Amino acid sequence: MGSSSLLPPEARRLEGKVALITGGASGIGASTARLFSKNGAKVVIADLQDEMGHSLCKELNPECTTFVHCDVTKETDVENAVNCAVSTYGKLDIMYNNAGIIGVKKTSILDNTQDDFEQVIKVNLLGPFLGTKHAARVMIPARKGCIINTASICSVIGGALSHGYTSAKHGVHGLVKNTAVELGKYGIRVNCVSPYVVPTPAAADIFEPDANGVPPTIYSNLKGKNVTPEDIADAALFLASDDSKYVSGHNLLVDGGYTALNAGFCMYPQ
Ligand SMILES: NC(=O)c1ccc[n+]([C@@H]2O[C@H](COP(=O)([O-])OP(=O)(O)OC[C@H]3O[C@@H](n4cnc5c(N)ncnc54)[C@H](O)[C@@H]3O)[C@@H](O)[C@H]2O)c1
Repeated sequence: MGSSSLLPPEARRLEGKVALITGGASGIGASTARLFSKNGAKVVIADLQDEMGHSLCKELNPECTTFVHCDVTKETDVENAVNCAVSTYGKLDIMYNNAGIIGVKKTSILDNTQDDFEQVIKVNLLGPFLGTKHAARVMIPARKGCIINTASICSVIGGALSHGYTSAKHGVHGLVKNTAVELGKYGIRVNCVSPYVVPTPAAADIFEPDANGVPPTIYSNLKGKNVTPEDIADAALFLASDDSKYVSGHNLLVDGGYTALNAGFCMYPQ
C-alpha cells in the first residue's frame, strides 16, 4: 500500500464500511478516497478520468479499492457504479456525491447560454440526485446508510461563481434537506459539505502563481491559512462516521467563517 496505509485498528473510523465517491479521481474526491481508505473503508472511485482513477487505486490498497467509469449525468452509469459497490464488496454504507464542474465563468446572465446553464446543472445537481436515488435504492432495504454531497459556499451566498453553479449548489442543499426528511425513517442520514475556495484542478486558475512563481493567498475570514482538500476530506469523514450519527439534513460549511461575514456592514475591522 502507498501513502494511505491503514491507521491502527482502534483509530479507524470507517472500519468495515463500503464507500462510493463520485469525482474520486481528483481534488477533494481523491483526498477523501485516501482518508476513507486509511480509516478502513473499502472505496469505489467513480469518475470520468479512468487513468487517474486506476492510478489512485494502485496507490491505495488495490484489494480494497475499485475504480468504475461513471458519468454522473447518466442514470445507467450511476446505477452501475452503485451496483459495482454492492457486487464487489457486498453493500454500500456511504455514498459521496462529490463530482462537479465549475462550468463557464461568463459573468452576465445575458452572456450565459442555455447550454452553459444546463451543463453545470446536469453535473452538479442532476448528478447528486441520481447518486442519492441509487444509493437509497440499496440503503433502504439495509435500513441504514449515509449520503454526503459536496455543495459549496455558493449553496448559501450569491455572486461567487456563475448563475448555473450557484443555482446548482443551492439545489444540492435543497435536495439534502428533502431527502434527509424522506430517508430518515430508514436510518439513512443525508448531509452536505460546503467548501470555500480549495486548491484543486477545478480552481487552478484562481491559484495561478504570480510573475515570481508565488501562488496567491486566498484567506477567508479566518486569516493565516488556506483551506486544503484534506480539510474537506476531514469534514466528509466526520459526516461519514458514527461521530455524526445524529446529524442529518445539515450543510457543513468549511469556509473559515467566510459566509458569516457581511463585509459591507461589520463592526470589527477586517
Ligand atoms: N475547488 C474548489 O474551490 C471547490 C469549492 C467548493 C466546492 N467545490 C466542489 O467540490 C467538488 C469536487 O471538485 P474539486 O475541486 O475536487 O475539482 P476536481 O476537478 O479536482 O475534481 C472533480 C472530479 O469530478 C470529476 N467529474 C467531472 N464531471 C464528472 C461527471 N460528469 N461524472 C463523473 N465525474 C465527473 C472530474 O473528472 C474530477 O475528477 C465539486 O462538486 C465542486 O463543485 C470545489
